[in-house]
Amino acid sequence: MNILVTGCCGFIGANFVRLVLKERPDWHISNLDLLTYAGNRENLRGVENNQHYKFFQGNITDENAVQKAADLLPNGKPDAIVHFAAESHVDNSIKNPGVFVRTNVEGTMTLLKFAQEQKIRHLQVSTDEVYGSLGETGFFTEDTPLAPNSPYSASKASADLLVRAWHETYKLDTVITRCSNNYGPYQFPEKLIPLAVTNLIRDKKIPVYGKGLNIRDWLHTEDHCRGILLALEKGVAGRVYNIGGNNEWKNIDIARELVKIMGFDESKIEFVTDRLGHDLRYAIDATRIRTELGWSPKYTFATGLPETVKWYKENEVWWKPLIK
Ligand SMILES: NC(=O)c1ccc[n+]([C@@H]2O[C@H](COP(=O)([O-])OP(=O)(O)OC[C@H]3O[C@@H](n4cnc5c(N)ncnc54)[C@H](O)[C@@H]3O)[C@@H](O)[C@H]2O)c1
Repeated sequence: MNILVTGCCGFIGANFVRLVLKERPDWHISNLDLLTYAGNRENLRGVENNQHYKFFQGNITDENAVQKAADLLPNGKPDAIVHFAAESHVDNSIKNPGVFVRTNVEGTMTLLKFAQEQKIRHLQVSTDEVYGSLGETGFFTEDTPLAPNSPYSASKASADLLVRAWHETYKLDTVITRCSNNYGPYQFPEKLIPLAVTNLIRDKKIPVYGKGLNIRDWLHTEDHCRGILLALEKGVAGRVYNIGGNNEWKNIDIARELVKIMGFDESKIEFVTDRLGHDLRYAIDATRIRTELGWSPKYTFATGLPETVKWYKENEVWWKPLIK
């Protein structure tokens, strides 16, 4: 396969490129990335010399840039788009929502139009945040109504609705994946786990919003990427697949676990003013991808969290330049 991927100088996309080059060595990949503050070519260090990987710097809202990235593939013809590129940080969306609408909504439309012209599959990498917030019980299924609460999740939900519309109206071959919170190597140190680990390495405190009672369902990024690859190859056109590992944690318990793994005590945890409109709980029902596509996660927190801490300890040269 020849795939046009977007946003692969970011966290999950970079892990996806590494996985595909390892497990599908005959595929060709062209990566279209604008290199915003969250995009870093260092995330693909060692990959850039691979003959099966090409990079084009450009904006997904720019049709010419999309075409130029596609032109880098053999015969200039992708077989599918895998769309990761996004503004992805909820806190930034509260301060500056405009760029979230431009990138996440208009950018997705530009790619859908391209996929429509080329008559190729568009895989939309979405998030469980589009479903809004759960109370203390229940799970998001693919039939849960979309009820996004932040500008970030609203922009992702809007993009998902455009993907649906392109499938219904133009019969475009689309697949949407909706994953829970990811952790693992190459995550920008603004997000909870890398922020906490890099703070502790620098002998600083971990900031925890409110009372730390918000619950997220965590998945190692490699397990997410394997789910995306399966959905790309075997997913049914027009279908949505939730991806999650039944791994719900309160933020405060993650902070406690990290201080324990890193040999500190709870004096290193600091409560800070809560995020506006902070969703209480996300929890994914991933029965569909498990039963229909045979996906299951490889990692648990017991294996993935210490391994991730180790990665950040060993890769200060990667994250130090990203911290102000
Ligand atoms: N991180 C998570 O926990 C999580 C969970 C579920 C879904 N997702 C989704 O997965 C995708 C990837 O998330 P991530 O955490 O790797 O994000 P990230 O912020 O680490 O990376 C985003 C990448 O997109 C690029 N980009 C941003 N705007 C662009 C534009 N206009 N044109 C081209 N490239 C642009 C950036 O340069 C960067 O390389 C996103 O769509 C996100 O919504 C993330």
